[in-house]
Parts: sequence; structure tokens; C-alpha cells
Amino acid sequence: MSAPEPIPVAELTSRQARAEHKRLAEAVEAADIAYHQNDAPTMDDAAFDALRRRLVAIEAAFPALKASSSASAKVGAKASGKFAKIRHRVPMLSLDNAFTDEAVAEFVQRVHRFLGRRDDEAIAFTAEPKIDGLSLSLRYEKGALVHAATRGDGEEGEDVTVNARTIAEIPQTLSGSDVPDIAEVRGEVYLGHADFAGINERQREKGLPEFANPRNAAAGSLRQLDATITASRPLRFFAYAWGEMPELPAPTQSGVVEVFGRWGFRTNPLMARCETVEALIARYRLIESQRATLGYDIDGVVYKVDDLSLQARLGFVSRAPRWAIAHKFPAELATTVLEAIEIQVGRTGALSPVARLRPVTVGGVVVTNATLHNEDYIRGYDSKGERIRDGEPPDIRVGDTVTVKRAGDVIPRVAAVDLSKRPADAKPYAFPTLCPACGSHATREINPRSGKEDAVRRCTGGLICPAQAVERLKHFVSRDALDIDGLGDKQIEFFHGDPDLPVKEPADIFTLAARDAANLKKLKDKEGFGAQSVAKLFAAIEERRTPPLNRFIFGLGIRHIGETNARLLARHYGSFEALRAAGLAAADPASPERQELDAIDGVGPTVVEALTDFFGEPHNEELLDRLLAQVMPQPLEAVASASPVAGKIVVFTGALERMTRDEAKAMAERLGAKVAGSVSSKTDLLVAGPGAGSKLKDAQKHGVQVIDEAGWFDLVGG
Ligand code: IVH
Repeated sequence: MSAPEPIPVAELTSRQARAEHKRLAEAVEAADIAYHQNDAPTMDDAAFDALRRRLVAIEAAFPALKASSSASAKVGAKASGKFAKIRHRVPMLSLDNAFTDEAVAEFVQRVHRFLGRRDDEAIAFTAEPKIDGLSLSLRYEKGALVHAATRGDGEEGEDVTVNARTIAEIPQTLSGSDVPDIAEVRGEVYLGHADFAGINERQREKGLPEFANPRNAAAGSLRQLDATITASRPLRFFAYAWGEMPELPAPTQSGVVEVFGRWGFRTNPLMARCETVEALIARYRLIESQRATLGYDIDGVVYKVDDLSLQARLGFVSRAPRWAIAHKFPAELATTVLEAIEIQVGRTGALSPVARLRPVTVGGVVVTNATLHNEDYIRGYDSKGERIRDGEPPDIRVGDTVTVKRAGDVIPRVAAVDLSKRPADAKPYAFPTLCPACGSHATREINPRSGKEDAVRRCTGGLICPAQAVERLKHFVSRDALDIDGLGDKQIEFFHGDPDLPVKEPADIFTLAARDAANLKKLKDKEGFGAQSVAKLFAAIEERRTPPLNRFIFGLGIRHIGETNARLLARHYGSFEALRAAGLAAADPASPERQELDAIDGVGPTVVEALTDFFGEPHNEELLDRLLAQVMPQPLEAVASASPVAGKIVVFTGALERMTRDEAKAMAERLGAKVAGSVSSKTDLLVAGPGAGSKLKDAQKHGVQVIDEAGWFDLVGG
């Protein structure tokens, strides 16, 4: 366009704004119709986006204009009041952390070992700042931005396309001849320090609450139902990773990121390629030394294996790649006064001491609570009388002046005490031996295997303890479990104590709507609720009547069954009925069900015991019957059902040449197989290398198919 430079939005008079707003709104709407309804675009994406950005910016400055515009409805608030969900075609992973140089060396060693490389065979890594923002996945089709999604739980994020389109540093179209038809570019949305200060200044002026740090402000700005607000905030974006991208433009991490730069993204200038642990650490120190002057927050340095074919071989464990690690900067410290110690009772009855602190800012965040871990930590000695914390004095008392440590997202903790400031009348803390919630005895179990006393004191009240019940309910609806929108900790506490619509166990959640309909006193008339929010809540609950099996299993809060084990069990058993039957029958150590459970790779004796305990408890049986009358867990999507080994039980034995044992196992699991440690009649396939012994004999005895490593690659193709 050869039009004169537009007047900056801040300098427009309201009259000029109204005129320009009208013109822009009409132009945007016409272009939109041309594109979507007539399939005859009248301008390119960049021009269209420039128009829309200006429209949105004007509306941000002159909110009164918003109501009059139909085009702005497309970028404005959604009627639904929340974002649509987008399922990531390639999951968005998180990173494992390293806090010391030694942990970095171990990471590098692990990579070598997994790939079967000697320590002196160099493997190249990239090192780059870990940006403290929020990750975003951008999907381009034929070079045009079609979707932007937040990370969410890694599998499913929120659709923030409209908002992302207002960010100047996110290209609407990619330039270059090597842009593949499908390209999902991922990176970090963040705010610079100066822009963050500006936003808070404006919040202050408007009498609105300020953001605690740039990261929160960036998240709050991106996840706006009103995209005009996003548009008014100068969000930035660094590209550093990718999702679905069938044709990669380069064979290395550093190569692909360089290409991203050519496509129109900003990439971090501090990224470097390093071949030794020493070089990685040197890069870390360099980046750390520049931290204060970068102008944006970083919380560590990320190392990634550079060669993408090695990345593919290394694969993932649970939610994090084996080929990358985040080397975090040391925790930040602050000093304050410990005003009280409170005991919280968790889902499994654990009594956790929490320090109530005089508010203090640690690394930009106001902290009022910190963990004290457990009884021994407060006392300073473990049950054998060994000191467990450095520094003097050994114990922590109410009234003490303490050092609080906060590292990244981790819960702050009380790290040390200043004895010179201890009040003369401070008394040693007496840890309760009765549960503060139900009065039952709280005991420290002796671990039957190690014979050691557990560090955690637990309430023995079990199902009669209201605190445990509430925590279990909170866990059941939490984000990684059933993830029911609008049903958070606060609401669970409310319903648990509500005489009209009590929720005492998971099944009660699903009868809320029916019970409310039958009640004279309606939920919508209660404080904190309204007709709309009640309708939304009931709809969200309805939506979760068919939860994914792994989330359902995880949500039950069975001890030792975290997300990873829940997924493992969901994959192995396929349905909840099958898992439940196995869990019941496996109580008999001689049963085939027990053998099958024992043979699942990754399931140890503690998990087996937890499962048989849980399913064998009559109270749980009744609770499950009631719950399963309301919900229908859905088997895991057959992710790898196309693979020839999906659902098969595979055992590896003998020497392997093309891959290490870890790698073989990871590969089989990626293809949907279950890897077992021993051969039984249930085994489908034995992959035997040279030197195979007793397992080969067992296989012959049970008539199990045996192939060699080459046969394995023929079978799985590659
Ligand atoms: S790579 C598969 N690189 O850190 C690996 N992540 O703790 C994907 N992050 O969710 C992540 N800077 O939001 C990568 N240079 C960087 C990063 C980075 C920040 C964030 C990202 C991720 C989180 C994991």
C-alpha cells in the first residue's frame, strides 16, 4: 500500500477513530466474505492482518466503538465464555530439569549410553536460553497461519488463534520456497521487562490488579476472550521447536531453527552448538552473566541433541524428551518471618506442614506460604538422629526469621533459620499426632521392605476423614484427571459442605444437575452462582461423562498410580472392567492375573500392592459401582493401532546390535507394544539376539514366535 503513514492510534481524536474504525470494519468484513464465502481473496494475508490489527488496536483505545462493529465480533469476545479446545497432533512436551553441573554431565552420559556411544565419541548439542513465558503451537497450512493453540495439558490446548493473530512477531504467512504444506512451529510467547512495567502502570492507573511477573502478564494477555486486549499488549515470540512437520527443512535442531528465521520468525541469538559438557556449561555461564541485561525473563538454559535422527532414536519418557534437558538457574532467596505452622491433610492422609510467612517478594513473586516438607525437616533430624538440613540451628520454630527459596515454578520452601534473630520465648514445634481434620491417630508407617520409618505422618482415618475425601474429590476433577471446567478446589469445598447439594464422592458430581432440578432451593440462587454459571458447570460435567481411560484411572487417586502408571495400565488393559477384574484377582499371588500384572514393564511390587489393596477394599467397590453407573471411561485412542506390534507383548533377549536395550524397549512401546521382562504363555513375540538363553527355551516351550533383530526391523519397517 502506498497510503501515507497512519496516525498512531494513541494520537487519534475520537472523531478520527470513529471514521477510521468504520472504514476498517467494512474493509475487514468485505475481505472476509471474499475469502471465506466466495473463495476469491481480494488481498493477501499480510495486508488483511495489518487491517485487522489496526482495527483491534483502535477498539482497544476506544472501547465504545467495539459494540458498533460486526467485524470486531470476529475478533472480540466469544459468546461461550471460554476457548475451544484443540488437540495437538504431536503432543507438546515438557522438559526434565537439571540443577547442577553434575546433573548436566549425567544427562550427556545418559544420551551416550542410550545410543550405545562411547564417552569419547562426541555428540553435538544446542544450548539456548529457556524463555520464561508460555508455549504456543502455530499451525501453518500452505504457508498460512490457520491455528494457534496453548500447551494445555500437552495433549489438548486452547484455541487462541484470534489472539495470536494480533501479535506482530507471529507471521501470518511464511515466506520462502522451502515452506512445507504443513508446518507446526512452536515457541514461547513472552513480554519484555519494559513492556511489562508499562502494562502494570496502566493497570494501576485503571485501578486494576497488577500482574506478579512478566510471565503471568503474558499468559493473562494471550488468554483473553477479548482479543482487543491481547492486541493492546506488546507480546513477543521466539520460535524454538515444532510439532507436525512431515518434511523437515534441515537435518539438525540448529538447522531447522535457522530456517525458522528465514521463514519470518524471531529466533534466539544466544543459541549455540556445543560438543562437550564443558562447552555446554561455559555457554550456560555466559547466558547467566547476561541474564540481567537481556530485557526479558529466562529461567535457565535448554540443551538439545542437535542431530534429529539421534533425537528420533532417543524418543521420550513419559512427558519429556530423552534428548533435551533444562539447566535451571539457581533458586532465588529472600528473608522473612515465619508467623505460624499449619498442617494440611492430603488425599492420601499425609500431614504436610506449611509455613505461613510475613509476605515477601522472591524473584518478583509475593510469597506468603512455603513448604516445611515434614516433621523431620522441622525438627532437623531424621528418625535415626541424623542431621537432615545444613546450617544452624537444626530446628525451625514459629517466630523464627527464615530464608525462603523459590526455584521457578516449584513451591517455595523454608531453607534456613537465622538463629541470632530467634525470639527468646520461641518453643520447639510439636508436630501433631492426631489428624487436625478428623481426630484420628496420625502415624508414621514402617516400610516393610526397607524397615525404615516413613518420613510422612499419615492420618489413619481413611474414608471417615473429611480432609482426605475433599482432597480426593479435588484430585478427581483436576486438570490432569477429569478436568471439569468450573469445578475447582473452591467449588469442591463448597459442595462437600453444602447441605442442599452435597458432593461426598465422585459419583455425586454427576448427579448434581438432576438433584438440583429436584430441589426447591436452586443452586443458581446461591451466592457465587448464577443461572449462567450453573448451566455452564452442568454442561462441563456432562461433557466429562466419557473420560479417557487413563485420566479416569489417574483420577481415582490410587496410591502410587500417577499419570505415567495410569497410562500404562490403560494401554495394557484397554478397559476399566478388565483392569478392575485383574486388580481383584491379582490379590492371589499365584493367580495368572498377578503374573500378568507383575510382567508389565514399569509396574513394580509397590504398584501391584497398591492396586490389589484399592480394588480389594469393599468400600471402594461400592464407590466404583456408583461411579460407573454415571460415567463411561473410554479406551485410549489406538494411537499406534496401525503398527504390526500394537497390543502385542514383546520380550527382548540376547545381544542387540543396531539398538541398545533401552532403545529397543522405547521403540516397541512407541509402536504400541507392551514390553515384558520374562516369557510366559501370554508373550506374543521374542526378539532374540546372539547369546539368548533361558528366555529362548521358555519361548519354545510356550510356542512363542521368535525372531532376530533383523526380523524385528523387517516387521516394524525401518
Ligand atoms: S524445548 C520437546 N526450548 O519450557 C521440548 N522449551 O519446561 C519442547 N521453554 O513447555 C520444549 N524456552 O514452554 C524448549 N528454548 C526452549 C524453551 C522452552 C522455554 C519452555 C516451554 C516448555 C517448557 C518446559
